[in-house]
Amino acid sequence: MEMTPYQLANKTPLTLSPNFILPEDKRPNLSKVLPSDSIPIIDLNDHDIDDGQGPSPLVTKISQACEEYGFFQIINHGVPKELCQKVLAVVTEFFQLPPEERAQYLTKDHSKQVKVFNYYQKYDGIGKVTMWSETFSHPWHPTEDFTHLLPTNPPQYREVFAEYARAIGVLFDRLLSLISRGLGLDKDCLKRRIGEKPGLNTQANYYPACPDPELTMGMPDHNDLGSIAVLLQVEGVTGLQVIKDGKWLTVDPVPDAFVINLADQTQVLSNGKFKSVGHRAITNKLLPRLSLGMFYTPNNDTVIGPIEDLIDEENPPKYRKYSFKEYMEEFYKQEGKRRRVKEAFELQR
Ligand code: OGA
Ligand code: NI
Repeated sequence: MEMTPYQLANKTPLTLSPNFILPEDKRPNLSKVLPSDSIPIIDLNDHDIDDGQGPSPLVTKISQACEEYGFFQIINHGVPKELCQKVLAVVTEFFQLPPEERAQYLTKDHSKQVKVFNYYQKYDGIGKVTMWSETFSHPWHPTEDFTHLLPTNPPQYREVFAEYARAIGVLFDRLLSLISRGLGLDKDCLKRRIGEKPGLNTQANYYPACPDPELTMGMPDHNDLGSIAVLLQVEGVTGLQVIKDGKWLTVDPVPDAFVINLADQTQVLSNGKFKSVGHRAITNKLLPRLSLGMFYTPNNDTVIGPIEDLIDEENPPKYRKYSFKEYMEEFYKQEGKRRRVKEAFELQR
């Protein structure tokens, strides 16, 4: 049976035309993806008493996951299941609106706060290949500043999103403090270093079913830019893959879990102890997939560099200090390529 292709916001039908097909050596090569290993699953209800006698069992698990994988899933995180289902439902409805409705958010301006866009990569001799997905991005806090810019269709979007954002704000505070303690620092340290007025942005990614997932990619291999990311994904459809020891492994959606990953600024602040790891999303042959990422990013004026308490003679700084604005300039310079942003701030040894 022929599927009716999904129409991107700019009305392009998503089909396996050359515009969406990757050069052979950039394809996902799915037979090489490890089915056996996976990222750690951490129960936030685990024993966590900060008695000054060294890290709690929970902090130890988180810090091991941050060192080895840069990724983990959390369960018993305190965000109600119904709320997660509601937010995934309104966002799915948004992507199922007619393209004309979504087109009002199309823009080429990076500085636009609310936008629909399509990832792409540029390859020598081939040009631009568009990814098999659409992304809707907007701020998630403080809600009063931007709610009026969010969709009125579906009608519950604003209300559900505001409620979800409040719950995720609480979770971010908890995660930042657990990760700080995992570095042996006081619990407020990371939050303080990421600074005042962080950029709080969300990205909803919709991956329509694809007739041949071997030829396309939903989101190219990348590292996240900010400090940490909290990702919610629909159950029952895989797509996210992360690099471990040079090989791709699949992150299976776990019921009622969030996927947490460290982003570049945490790697730099931790002086390379905690990892910001490359990841990508592949497409699914039968089912569409939706993921919703919530990001916590320094503002442009914040100065980032390895935290002094983590530096000594044996652990010299691996990165130079920079303002986050410089980091973003480097990021935009690498547009269309597999970005290697943090490498540009490494100190030579
Ligand atoms: C992202 C991301 C992965 C996914 O939004 O940065 O990595 O599974 N998403 O959609
Ligand atoms: Ni990402």
